[in-house]
Amino acid sequence: MIAAEVVYRARAYDTPDDPFTTGAGFRYGDDLGLVVSDDGVIVDRGPYADVAAIRPGAPVLDLRDGILLPGLVDTHVHFPQVRVIGALGMPLLEWLDRCALPEEQHLASPDYAATIAYEFVASLIAAGTTTSLVFGSHFAPAVDLLFAEAERYGLRVTSGLVVSDRMLPEPLLTTPERAYAEALDLAQHWHGRGRLRYAVTPRFSLSASDPVLAACASVLAEVDGACFTSHVNENQAEVATVAGQFPDRAHYVDTYDHHGLLGPVSVLAHDVHPTDAELAVLAARATAVAYCPTSNSALGSGLFPLRRHLEAGVRVALGSDVGAGTGFSIFKEGLQAYFLQHLLGAEGMPLTAAHLLHLSTSAGAAALGLADTVGDLSVGKQFDAVLVRPPAGTALDIGLRHADSPEGALGKVFALAGDADVAEVWVGGDQIASGGFVRPVSRRAPAGRRTPAG
Ligand code: GUN
Ligand code: ZN
Repeated sequence: MIAAEVVYRARAYDTPDDPFTTGAGFRYGDDLGLVVSDDGVIVDRGPYADVAAIRPGAPVLDLRDGILLPGLVDTHVHFPQVRVIGALGMPLLEWLDRCALPEEQHLASPDYAATIAYEFVASLIAAGTTTSLVFGSHFAPAVDLLFAEAERYGLRVTSGLVVSDRMLPEPLLTTPERAYAEALDLAQHWHGRGRLRYAVTPRFSLSASDPVLAACASVLAEVDGACFTSHVNENQAEVATVAGQFPDRAHYVDTYDHHGLLGPVSVLAHDVHPTDAELAVLAARATAVAYCPTSNSALGSGLFPLRRHLEAGVRVALGSDVGAGTGFSIFKEGLQAYFLQHLLGAEGMPLTAAHLLHLSTSAGAAALGLADTVGDLSVGKQFDAVLVRPPAGTALDIGLRHADSPEGALGKVFALAGDADVAEVWVGGDQIASGGFVRPVSRRAPAGRRTPAG
C-alpha cells in the first residue's frame, strides 16, 4: 500500500546553508510544494505545479495566505520560570535569589509542577518553538511531568534534572549520589522515547561542586546520545565567584571540560564574558553557545561577542532564557540580536534576515545534534514548521502585503512577528497548533510516573 502523502503548498523560507560560513542567503519558494509522508517526513519538494502534477489524488493544504518557516528552535529555556518573566532591574545573582529560586522551590509540589508543565509547553507551542533544550527542575517528579506533557503535545524536547549541591536554597540541593541515581532513572525512562531526549544539567559551576560534576559525567557516559547543558560566563560577579571556587581550573569553561562534559551535543548558555582561551576550548570540543539576547539585556549581563565566537569557530544559536529572557518568542530574540550586534559597531556582527532565520532554526538544530532531523525544509527532514499569518489589519499583515521582496518580507517577520502571528504549528507532520490554539496529539492525561508523596 502506498503511504498517504499530503502536499503543503506554501511561500516558504529556510536556511539549509549556513550564511555565516558559506555567505549563502535564505532559500525561498514563492509557490512551493512540500510533500510530507504519513510518518511526518518531507519526501519531495519543488515548484508546486511539478510536485502536484505527479500526485493527482493527493490532498493539498494551501498555506499561501501566510509564510511558512521551519519550526523555531530554542536552545536555552527554563521550565520552572514561566511565571517569573518580566522581573526587571536586577543583575543575575540578585534575580536568582529574589525571583527564580523562590519560584523553583514551588515545583516540589507535583500538582504545582503539573500546572507549570502545561503552561510551559503551551507557551513554547504558541511561540512557534517546535524544538527546545529545556533546563528542567531540581525535582525529579517535576521533570517527569514536563516530559509527559511534552510527549502529550508532540513537542521535540531535550531536558533533564537540574542538579546543584551548594549556594542555593536547601530544598534545591542534592548529593552526587542522588543526582546520579535520579538522573539515570529519568534518562532510562525518557531518553530516545519519540521526540524526547535527556540532557545532563548541572545548574552552573557556582552551585555544582566537583563531585556533582563528576556524577554528571557518569550519567553522560551511561546514557548513549545524551546532551549536556549548563551556564557559563554570564555575569562578572558570577565569573569571579567561580574562579575563587575552582582555583585549580584554567577558567570557567574548564570547570566543565575537566570532567569531559563538553562535546558536540553540549550547549553552554550565555558566554557573555569569554576569554580567547575559553573560545578555543569550545571550538575544539564543537560545543555550542546559546545566545540569549533579551536575558543578557534584562539582567544587564553584557553585550554578547558574537563576532569573537564565530571567528573562533564556536557554533552559536538562540535561546530565550525564559524567565530572565522577556518571553518565549525566538523572533524577538532574533530582533534583539540584530539590534545589539548593530549597536556594537565594528565589534559587532552585522546580521541580515537570513542570519536571523538561520540562528532561529538550522543553527539551533545543529547545536542540539539534530541537524539531520530538523532545522530546514529539505527532503529527508521531519516536517517541523510554523505558519506566520498575522491577523488582518495588523502592521505585519500590512507590511507583508506590501513587501517589495522576499528579503523585505522576512525582515518584517523578525521586526514584527509575535505569538499572535503564529497561526499553525507542525512537529513531525502532526499539527499541534491551529488557528492559534494548541492541541495535544495524544488524549492521554499528562500523568507523570510517580505518585505524589503523601
Ligand atoms: N545561572 C544559573 N541559573 C540561572 C538561571 O536560572 N537563569 C540565568 N539566566 N542564569 C542562570
Ligand atoms: Zn539560563
